[in-house]
Amino acid sequence: MVAKKSYVQTKINGETTEFLCEPRQSLLECLRDVLQLTGSKEGCNDGNCGACTVKMDGRIVDSCLVLGVEAEGADISTIEGMATPENLHPLQQAFLENAALQCGICTPGFLIASKALLDAEPDADEERIREWLAGNLCRCTGYDKIVRAILDAASRMKKN
Ligand code: FES
Ligand code: FES
Repeated sequence: MVAKKSYVQTKINGETTEFLCEPRQSLLECLRDVLQLTGSKEGCNDGNCGACTVKMDGRIVDSCLVLGVEAEGADISTIEGMATPENLHPLQQAFLENAALQCGICTPGFLIASKALLDAEPDADEERIREWLAGNLCRCTGYDKIVRAILDAASRMKKN
């Protein structure tokens, strides 16, 4: 039997977006499989790794734990909205320059989470960054380069 689909209207990276999804589909599935926004990654699909992190109504969430239908009327930011056509976001640039990624599966989640932190707390120190990122796992780089990149980006963002 074909499941009945729900109509969802939401805002993604500032643009009004409409899609149809089954009530059981996660927001992550809707982003990746329905809207072809494949920057958000599926790691564990059970809320443990943070690879699927997006910002939703001002809070960072694991999109694998949110239903697509819950996006109705929401304001969502994904990794696709982070750079401008001209420039990478300072965090993206700092990740590149500090070699803060290897396979890249965790990277969109780290970037979305760390942007949310620096937007709210531009002076976040190393301890705060490590605490904030406790829900984001990386199996490749270790965490030192990631934290260094975020501190580097924070200092650039303050100068600008
Ligand atoms: S895929 Fe969502 S937390 Fe791991
Ligand atoms: S760069 Fe591979 S999991 Fe983090």
